[in-house]
Amino acid sequence: MRLTSRTGCSVAAALVGFATAANAALPYRDAQLATGRAGMVVTQQPLATRAGLEVLRAGGNAMDAAIAAALALSVVHPQAGNLGGGGFLLYYRAQDSLCTFLDFRETAPAAARPDMYLDAHGEVDTLKARVGPWSAGVPGSPAGLYLAWSKYGTRSWRSLLAPAIRYAQDGFPVNEELAEAVQDREADLRRFPATAALFLPKGRPLRAGDKLVQKDLARTLRLFAQSRPLTFYEGAVADLVQKDMDRVHGPFTAADWPLYRAVERVPLRGRYRDLQVWCAPPPSSGGVTLLEILAQLEYYDLQATGPRSTYRVHLTSEAMARAFADRNTFLGDPAYVVNPIAGLLAPAYIASLQGAIAMDKASPPGGIQPGNPWKFQPGPRFMATPDIGDSLYPVPNRATEGNHTTHLSVVDAQGNIVALTTTLNDEFGSAYVVPGAGFFLNNEMDDFVAKPGTANMYGLVGSATNGIAPGKRPLSSMCPTLVFRAGRPWLVLGSPGGPRIITTVLNILLDRRDHGLTLEAAVANPRFHHQWQPDVVYYEPEAFGDDVKKALQAMGHGLRQRARYSSAQCIEIEPGGTLRGVSDPRSRGAAMGY
Ligand code: DON
Repeated sequence: MRLTSRTGCSVAAALVGFATAANAALPYRDAQLATGRAGMVVTQQPLATRAGLEVLRAGGNAMDAAIAAALALSVVHPQAGNLGGGGFLLYYRAQDSLCTFLDFRETAPAAARPDMYLDAHGEVDTLKARVGPWSAGVPGSPAGLYLAWSKYGTRSWRSLLAPAIRYAQDGFPVNEELAEAVQDREADLRRFPATAALFLPKGRPLRAGDKLVQKDLARTLRLFAQSRPLTFYEGAVADLVQKDMDRVHGPFTAADWPLYRAVERVPLRGRYRDLQVWCAPPPSSGGVTLLEILAQLEYYDLQATGPRSTYRVHLTSEAMARAFADRNTFLGDPAYVVNPIAGLLAPAYIASLQGAIAMDKASPPGGIQPGNPWKFQPGPRFMATPDIGDSLYPVPNRATEGNHTTHLSVVDAQGNIVALTTTLNDEFGSAYVVPGAGFFLNNEMDDFVAKPGTANMYGLVGSATNGIAPGKRPLSSMCPTLVFRAGRPWLVLGSPGGPRIITTVLNILLDRRDHGLTLEAAVANPRFHHQWQPDVVYYEPEAFGDDVKKALQAMGHGLRQRARYSSAQCIEIEPGGTLRGVSDPRSRGAAMGY
């Protein structure tokens, strides 16, 4: 068998290697796999999954269930579920095939400045950018969830808040995932008395099995039930936040929160082989980057080899690196910059990227640079000069990396679908609980480029296109995705993982579509990731066999093993209507259907 590159040279199969890794699939826990006919909810915390399922069983639609589950996550999965953060929601309404997208990404406060995180030496002050109120943007979740309900919900608003209020008021048992998250960020959680009182009671980090009661959060949720988002943005909760900001000299002024608006957008739609892919538009980079990778790969016969063969890993990594170079250079909040999406996805542009991929060797170090999508972009143009530097990505030594964002997927009996990814950014966001209000402020400001050429928390090196400005939304990698086959919804995908969200969704999609793995095998399959800088292929333990590693290295790929990462929460809708829910075996979520 011979494989052909875009430029027409053919390469003997033996050269690129076909051996597949003996990928040790992770075992699933109880309740992580489910099937159903009438409805399915998959989240990263069983109590939140149950909250969503109860709403479906009581006659609510997928949007109602997703909102109830998201609110429950803000209580039972406080490391990522949130009121003080933001997210993106993709919604498919079966009756008229509407596919829409809600953007409730945080915004930079009015006091924000491009150089606000630079110290006296012009270096990024990472503490200021990542810990405490100064790292927070104006939260979007209260406005976003309410917008979702007011446009597409059917049950009473109060009923959707009921499970969250119950878990906050009566308490719930801390699971291992939350206990590990507390340990991970113990030092930062300890800095702030309102945070420490909850998560380090009497100075000791919460342990699995402890009961966590959050009375202030219960009160905030009750106010949310009564006064709706107004309470956050102008009412009683806003007053608490403002009083606190005056006390700690925080970044928000009284004008900041009332100005926040969630935005409904047209989702991005692309194609991959026989599939239609609906995904997140800017200010998330998730959809554009996913589609740019898929478009490059479409030309190749991936099916011909194994999912972790040298051929597949080489081509996918090269395509990932090229798409991330463009992501980091050209994308930003569409209210502030023009995103050259049409240019990045234009067939002629994609062909130019493919043409530069050699079949038998990796691109040389520094050999991949952002392209020129503007050449293929119709309409107006604005581009900040890219400024690109080097980065180091610290490798933590836990068996599993923290998941600081969280995704949920829901399908209801009418065929309505929600894919929702929500985040505080880091685990517990800024680590700052607003005293008296009981919720964490995010640290999403670190998703901006604090200094062009300097890596952020995820090792992403960006340009001034994603620089800080008042009211601007930081570029995200969140990637809630809905895949159609033969005109019908097929896969509902999403995950946490920072930039690895995009490649997690990609790998699951390719493993399912091109390699014929079942959805549960695709989710469990060890992952790999390339984000352009640093110039290495990150891989999970057991992703590659020794022969594949050797072959990749011989081709010039740098390889770096990482702890397991991401936490995909997915649903497959089979042609006969059976719903298969899959909750990532890397974490402790649950799929429940009926
Ligand atoms: O929006 C983003 O891209 C990031 N704030 C997401 C962070 C994340 O997924 C962390 N999880 N590991």
